[in-house]
Amino acid sequence: MRYALAGFLLIVTAFSGLMAVSRSVPKLDEPTKAARIELGRRLFYDADLSINGTMSCATCHEQHHGFADGNRTHPGALDDPGRRNVPTLANVGEFPRLTWADPRLTSLEAQVAVPVFGDHPVEMAMKGHEAEIARRLTRDPCYRTQFSEAFPESNGAIDYPKVASALAAFERALVSRGSDWDRSAHNDRAQLGARVFRRSCASCHSGVNFTDARYHRIGPVPPPNAADPGLAEITGRPRDRGRFRTPSLRNVAVSAPYLHDGSAPTLDAAIAAHTRIVPLPAKERGAVAAFLASLTDHAFLTNPAFQLPQTACGNAL
Ligand code: HEC
Ligand code: HEC
Repeated sequence: MRYALAGFLLIVTAFSGLMAVSRSVPKLDEPTKAARIELGRRLFYDADLSINGTMSCATCHEQHHGFADGNRTHPGALDDPGRRNVPTLANVGEFPRLTWADPRLTSLEAQVAVPVFGDHPVEMAMKGHEAEIARRLTRDPCYRTQFSEAFPESNGAIDYPKVASALAAFERALVSRGSDWDRSAHNDRAQLGARVFRRSCASCHSGVNFTDARYHRIGPVPPPNAADPGLAEITGRPRDRGRFRTPSLRNVAVSAPYLHDGSAPTLDAAIAAHTRIVPLPAKERGAVAAFLASLTDHAFLTNPAFQLPQTACGNAL
């Protein structure tokens, strides 16, 4: 009898587990999806996601820089120095692996925990304060309305997983497909650059986002005590030292400085940093830089739908 009950419970547990899995890939109706993106947008700009209310996602991911920023690295809310250059978020919903060198991070929902709770480096410094996030947001009646519209089954309950889910929904809406390159509107110099690029660069910077999402080393092998071991930090394999994920090149002309440590101040310097694997004469580097400038999507950089929202629940924010 006891076994029968245990068996029954096991089946019930397995069944609800299955339900949870099918629920985790929701097919949202349009109004819910729109509400979730709009909520994610507000959260993206909300400094209440940092310990001392000084830092939002947008502090480091600025729209006019393609959702990167203009710094080599960006210090966290408690002034811990940043470790790596802020990557752009254009088309980030299409990336199979996230960040410069962590192949375990494959979903936007999971990635949110890195800036919010991470301590290597400390960014928004909320480690150990998960409940505080819910508490702060719940105080705002408009957030309660927005969460109930974005997650209709939850009756306005606010918790961190919903925060992450809404942020991910907003990030998936950050689609950039309006550059000159997308419209095949190249000038002559960019045409020459495009040819050089296809020959010398497209093996790694491949596809519509100009990345193979794989890990490569473009410079010399760093010493074992290097501040940033790259992929080796995760895999422990010496041959992964100095390997980083090929960055997307969309809107690259507005996201200087470059490379994982922000050490290249200009596009020319970033291209020159590949000399060991793809030596190019200065003239070709210039042409490639012109081609890269054709990947700037001005409509994306100024799209009002991605800006700090001016209103929520019909009231000015
Ligand atoms: C202090 C600056 C800072 C803040 C604040 C910050 N980020 Fe980032 N973000 C970074 C840096 C730096 C990286 C690259 C980290 C790495 O590769 O190790 C990154 C990487 C990412 C990536 C991966 C992009 C890619 O190309 O794979 C996403 C997505 C992202 N951040 C979203 C967010 C969201 C959402 C928030 C707010 C919850 C946020 N970030 C807050 C600095 C920041
Ligand atoms: C073997 C693969 C590979 C090839 C070939 C390659 N790249 Fe890269 N590229 C990378 C990787 C990996 C990085 C990041 C390296 C780092 O941060 O240490 C990178 C970084 C860049 C950056 C900086 C982007 C940013 O946001 O920081 C630019 C610009 C760039 N590459 C352009 C080019 C051009 C132009 C060519 C051809 C001349 C080229 N790459 C060839 C792999 C490659």
